[in-house]
Amino acid sequence: MLISSCGSATAPEPVEQIIVSEPGTEKLVTNSDGSANSQDLAAAGEAAFAICKGCHVVEPGAASTVGPNLHNVLGRKAGSVEGYTYSEALAGSDIVWSEAELDAFIADPQGKIAGTNMVAGAVSDADSRAAIIAYLAAQSN
Ligand code: HEC
Repeated sequence: MLISSCGSATAPEPVEQIIVSEPGTEKLVTNSDGSANSQDLAAAGEAAFAICKGCHVVEPGAASTVGPNLHNVLGRKAGSVEGYTYSEALAGSDIVWSEAELDAFIADPQGKIAGTNMVAGAVSDADSRAAIIAYLAAQSN
């Protein structure tokens, strides 16, 4: 088996790639099954996340605002941001935030966790939720 030499001390610095495209030629890259490419989804999700931004930050280490910091939320135990005061309902929910759990919560926070303090920000459109979740998944380092 060939061991990759990536990461050796002599590897060149990564060069920033600038992609120039003619106006109007941009198109959504899709996977072979026709679903949107996850990078494009994350980009769409950044725009859709605007409705969450009034209450949530995603920058690593940033202080929580109205809601808890959502950096690295995927795979995180619900109610576990240090220094943030959660509702008892959310803190005691025993949820680990998978894509499916996030989808259900964002669709209907109160329906998913009765008594949560997240009283706004529900997103009824499934495509928007998928994009937001892809964006959140990308906010992990
Ligand atoms: C009006 C303010 C507000 C908006 C808008 C809002 N949230 Fe929240 N969110 C909260 C609050 C407050 C909590 C804490 C709820 C609790 O303790 O019960 C929360 C909690 C969460 C949690 C649980 C995090 C954890 O650490 O367990 C997730 C995930 C979440 N919000 C995602 C979103 C997303 C995605 C959006 C946008 C679609 C959004 N929120 C919009 C206020 C908001």
